[in-house]
Amino acid sequence: MQHPLLPQPSARHRAGRRSLRDDGRVLHHQLTEDCNLRLLDESDADALYALIAANRPYLARWLPWAASQDRDATLAFVRATRRQIGDNDGLQTVITRAGHPIGMVGVHAVDWTRRSSSVGYWLAQAQQGQGIVTRAVRALLDHGFGAWRLNRIEIRAGVENLPSRDVAERLGFRDRAGCCRPSGSASAG
Ligand SMILES: CC(C)(COP(=O)(O)OP(=O)(O)OC[C@H]1O[C@@H](n2cnc3c(N)ncnc32)[C@H](O)[C@@H]1OP(=O)(O)O)[C@@H](O)C(=O)NCCC(=O)NCCS
Repeated sequence: MQHPLLPQPSARHRAGRRSLRDDGRVLHHQLTEDCNLRLLDESDADALYALIAANRPYLARWLPWAASQDRDATLAFVRATRRQIGDNDGLQTVITRAGHPIGMVGVHAVDWTRRSSSVGYWLAQAQQGQGIVTRAVRALLDHGFGAWRLNRIEIRAGVENLPSRDVAERLGFRDRAGCCRPSGSASAG
């Protein structure tokens, strides 16, 4: 059982406020004094893989790809994130703290006909409880509803994934029950 959670675009979103500094392929946004959002680079693959490996059981409970992702698959994911930007089909960003990856937040494939998409996120277990992901998702929502003029962005959280549902609720998403097969997509985002 999954819950697609639907936000109501706020006045701020409708106004098209740009929150991510978009400088060609160099996009970044400051979340806190020492946490930032930025695009992934191939040079991040080893650190990102190490983070996934160190958090594997915790991540794999809700993100099936994390159970088996190896270093090559992480590198393939990083490369795919750059193609996704080139194709104008979403955006994956890495959350860094003091320059080191601590999680990911991304906008998945965009349905430009309906102007709709979804966001996904994960954070290293030890970094939870500080509002980092809430800030990061808010930045992507601003970008999606603002710069991209999307009409709808979903968060799909497992019914029992309370930390993830709390992120959505904190951001004003409206809870809409739905039912999907568990996703087995092989990605790091
Ligand atoms: C889902 C997940 C990203 C949530 O992480 P999180 O740290 O709880 O979320 P945030 O970073 O937004 O932090 C929120 C927490 O910080 C607290 N907080 C502190 N300062 C805050 C601030 N300025 N703003 C918002 N929250 C703040 C909140 O009260 C909350 O703590 P609580 O849960 O004890 O009440 C994380 O649990 C995770 O990666 N899980 C595994 C992967 C996963 O499930 N991904 C989602 C799939 S749908």
